[in-house]
Amino acid sequence: MNWIGIYDSGLGGLTVLRALQKQLPQEPVLYFGDTARVPYGTRSAAELLTFGREILTWMGEQGVKMVLVACNTSSALVLEQLQREFPWPMLGLILPGARAAVQMGRRIGVLATPATVQSGAYPRAIREACPQAGVWQVPCPALVPLIEQGRSHTPETRLLLNSYLAALRSVGVDTVIYGCTHYPLLDDVMAELLPPQVRRIDPATALVRAAAQELDVLGLKHHGNGGVRFGVSGSPQTFARMAQRWLGTIPPVEAVVLPMLQELPVVD
Ligand code: DGL
Repeated sequence: MNWIGIYDSGLGGLTVLRALQKQLPQEPVLYFGDTARVPYGTRSAAELLTFGREILTWMGEQGVKMVLVACNTSSALVLEQLQREFPWPMLGLILPGARAAVQMGRRIGVLATPATVQSGAYPRAIREACPQAGVWQVPCPALVPLIEQGRSHTPETRLLLNSYLAALRSVGVDTVIYGCTHYPLLDDVMAELLPPQVRRIDPATALVRAAAQELDVLGLKHHGNGGVRFGVSGSPQTFARMAQRWLGTIPPVEAVVLPMLQELPVVD
C-alpha cells in the first residue's frame, strides 16, 4: 500500500487529515496518534527524536510513500534530523505556516506549545520569508491536555484561551498562526475572542498544498479511493470516542506496539 503517513501526539493531526482529505481525497492515509505519550509540547528534542524514529520505522514497515509530520513541536525540533534518516519525502508545518502568514499580514502572532515557542522556529521562518514582519509568540501549555480530554468547548477552556489571546490583542496583531495542530479545533472560539479583522492561519492548508506539489513532481499521486487507517499507542477506544466529535463517525482504530529502538544521541 502506498500510504501518506500523518503523525501527531494525538488528535491534532486530525486537522491535517481534514486538509488532506479536502485537497487530496484520493490518497490513502495512515494516521498515527502517539496518545500514550501526549502531550509532546513540553518534551525535549531527544525524546521527540526517539518517538519520531519509532513511529517512522513502523510507518516504513506499513509502506508509506510520504510522511506529513502533523505536529508543530516535532516539525520545529526534529524534522530536519528525521528527514536525513528516512528515505521518503517528509514535510512539516513551520515553513508552510510561516509563508502563508506573511502573505496575510506583517504583525504576526504565534500560538504554540512551550517547546515550539522556545525553539524559535516560527520567528526564524517568518523573518526569513519577510524580514520586516513583527512576531509575537504565546506559549499555551494547557490547551492540548484540555482538547485531548474532550474539554475543548468548556467555559474553563474559553477563559484560558482568552487570557492567552489577550497578549496578542494588546499588541494589535493582524494575523495569528495556529502553531499547534490541536488549535484549529478551537477555531470557532478563537474567532469569537479575536478582533474580526485578524486573519487566522491553519498551516495545514499550505502544508497539504506543498505535499500535493511534491507528489506531482515525484509522480507519486494515487488515483483511486482514499480512506484512512488509524493507529494509536494508547487506548484505541478512547481515541475513537474523542475523534468521533471531529470526524463525525466513530473510526476503527488499531492499537500499535511501536518498535523499541535504541536511543541514539541527537545530532545537530
Ligand atoms: N499537536 C502537536 C503540535 O502541533 C503536539 C501538541 C502536544 O502534544 O503538546 O505541536
